[in-house]
Amino acid sequence: MTSPANVISPDLIPDALYPTINALCATSIDVAAIIARAGLGQSLAAQVGENSDGDGQKALDVLADDMFEAALRGGDVRWYASEEQEDALLTSEGGKYALAIDPLDGSSNIDVNVSIGTIFSIFDTKEGAEESFLRPASEQICGGYILYGPATCLVVTFGNGTQQYVLDPSKGEFVLVEKAMEVPETSKEFAINASNYRHWTKPVRTYIDDCLAGKDGPRGMDFNMRWVGSLVAETHRILTRGGIFLYPGDARPGYENGRLRMVYECAPIAFIIEQAKGHATDGETPILERQAATLHGRVPLVFGSAQKVQRVADHHDLSE
Ligand code: AHG
Ligand code: MN
Ligand code: MN
Ligand code: MN
Repeated sequence: MTSPANVISPDLIPDALYPTINALCATSIDVAAIIARAGLGQSLAAQVGENSDGDGQKALDVLADDMFEAALRGGDVRWYASEEQEDALLTSEGGKYALAIDPLDGSSNIDVNVSIGTIFSIFDTKEGAEESFLRPASEQICGGYILYGPATCLVVTFGNGTQQYVLDPSKGEFVLVEKAMEVPETSKEFAINASNYRHWTKPVRTYIDDCLAGKDGPRGMDFNMRWVGSLVAETHRILTRGGIFLYPGDARPGYENGRLRMVYECAPIAFIIEQAKGHATDGETPILERQAATLHGRVPLVFGSAQKVQRVADHHDLSE
């Protein structure tokens, strides 16, 4: 790994992880610059293949993956596992970490100039790749995402609260703006892909039906709905403004466990949210108590304000 100049203040970052976090941040600055020019050159949303999840791969999915892998190679990361690659890669024989990454989250938004992101999760490595990643999510030592929105920002936890840094584009540096983010407890917003309503289980339908019933229903208030289609953007909104996100398992073939991948998406988002005093479950069980069965395995994800997430779990209890 060629060590880039420092692009993030080291104050709250564990010393041993600093080179890895700095490399991720330096790469994200390059990715953000490419995204900012997306409408000007070759389409970043061109379909270029399919990954092992069966997701179509867009040009930017593959480019971002290549860039992060190249930036980490030869550094402190022994195992690099990516949504866009079938198997984990040995990127550094002597590396002490295992890093999982969703290099480009929300790829359906690339061609419409809507927020997208990168999500990552870090464990202390073990000898083999599977044992390094297929373990309880509570063993993560870092979870983070970079949001490429109107502003580019890094939200990260090392298990001591959730911090936010914003990229100052004029300096090419991430500046700490929040030391301890907290998910607001009260909010009227929920996020779910409502087009799947007919496929949902009873507890999920009941939860959403109650929201839709508004102030005359059991919740006694009107709600509002948001769905960006980028997990990073939904997470950022919920960290900022509260609310709840659901991508439940449903009756569609292949969607028994929803759409989101445990290792690349659910585990790091759950770590970030729990460190911000929110809650993240699979509908019933905390995500941090679960572990992936396979590298690309999916898990239902419900997260946000703790009381709202608990209400979803209560609906599951009642249906048993
Ligand atoms: P990715 O682009 O990394 O494959 O992830 C997309 C995910 C997530 O960002 C979003 O919450 C969800 O897919 C959207 O799913 P629908 O297309 O079913 O709305
Ligand atoms: Mn994908
Ligand atoms: Mn994703
Ligand atoms: Mn992705």
